[in-house]
Amino acid sequence: MPLNAPDQPVSRHVSQQRLQARLDTLARFGATAKGGVDRQALSREDALAQAQMVRWGHELGLKASRDPAGNLFLRFEGLDDGLPPVLSGSHLDSQPTGGRFDGVFGVVAALEAVQAMAEAGHRPVRAIEVVAWMNEEGSRFAPGMMGSAAFSGARELDEFLPVRDGAGIRVDEALAATRSGLDELLAPEGLSPVVLRPLGGPVAAYVEAHIEQGPVLERVGLSVGIVSGIQGKHTWRIEVLGEAAHAGTSTRAERKDALMAALAMVQAMAQVFHDEDDVTKFTVGRFEVEPNAPSVVASRAVFSIDLRHPDTDRLNAMSQQVQRLCTEHRGPCEVVVQRLSAADSLSFSADMRQLAQDCAQAQDIATLELPSAAGHDARYLNPLAPSAMLFVPCHLGITHNEAEYASPHDLWLGTRVLADMLQALTTASSPESVT
Ligand code: GLV
Ligand code: MN
Ligand code: MN
Repeated sequence: MPLNAPDQPVSRHVSQQRLQARLDTLARFGATAKGGVDRQALSREDALAQAQMVRWGHELGLKASRDPAGNLFLRFEGLDDGLPPVLSGSHLDSQPTGGRFDGVFGVVAALEAVQAMAEAGHRPVRAIEVVAWMNEEGSRFAPGMMGSAAFSGARELDEFLPVRDGAGIRVDEALAATRSGLDELLAPEGLSPVVLRPLGGPVAAYVEAHIEQGPVLERVGLSVGIVSGIQGKHTWRIEVLGEAAHAGTSTRAERKDALMAALAMVQAMAQVFHDEDDVTKFTVGRFEVEPNAPSVVASRAVFSIDLRHPDTDRLNAMSQQVQRLCTEHRGPCEVVVQRLSAADSLSFSADMRQLAQDCAQAQDIATLELPSAAGHDARYLNPLAPSAMLFVPCHLGITHNEAEYASPHDLWLGTRVLADMLQALTTASSPESVT
């Protein structure tokens, strides 16, 4: 049964100024010279951002907890503790040249929505948990969305724990360092250590606010988008093993040049996956060579593949060619093709999309339904519980870039719609509809 927009909307308590102040504060953790953010998952900067979220939560009386996957939760207690909570949030980690809004907006917006509710005197029937998922970006540790994937049970946390970053640090080591770093930051302020909770658990509904990361909303002049679904995405790590040799003395016949083999693979895939309509997205964003010396034939090359398409069958058909294309172009080298993730395209719940539209309409905010070409943690929550995503415009679609920008007014309107959705999902009439 569809839910209705609230009669006494808490959105009128959503503060644009507070939202901006919090975004500005979090942007300091990992701030780059060009005005962006480099806040890698489970880094010191990530712990600082998490500690700040716990501090704000504490001021509001929210209970902080974290699970073994490093997801952080701030719980606004409901009238009935036994009912599954509604979750809302996104991620605090960023790309190396990331912007100030990707992920962090959804976390701060959820906190602002809860604060608006508290100020309006709305006591939710069920708890609302503000969540920051661990490692959405997959930049330090691949693949991304480790926290939400482990929480949902789509992937085993144990699979991720041995994954290493570029410096050889494992996910389990970084999780432990972040846990103790967070406690050390909070203890001098008299704040208790963040409680450890079990992984997973029932969820009544999930709503994630995010910048669009594309140009559509700005182009049509709308402040809020309702996300219809997320396109599929498959990722790989390809390791090519050759042999180091002298750049001047080794013959072509002798060479096992890992770089040349890797380039041949990338070029072959770029040709086969080329799509005149620009729907298929093929990206090799990471490329590492060893020993990376001008006069040595490369002994090893490692590169990433990120392949996306909204049609799951098309994506699967392309995916099946990756191993073959790498093997065919390996020359005298060895190649190890490791698939890191395979997520299909998905659609969000029609009832949740309708609720988003009703909540926006009740505030006279015009909306547009649009698909997400970027990946989000909501993908892993969607099979667990009715889920929705709200987009706000992202200037010129510039994102994963320090110049990323979203206007305070748009962020405020998106948060207002989020607040009323969370209210509708936690009013007396709602439980049967969302369990
Ligand atoms: C996340 O940033 C993604 O689109 O992969
Ligand atoms: Mn994001
Ligand atoms: Mn991102």
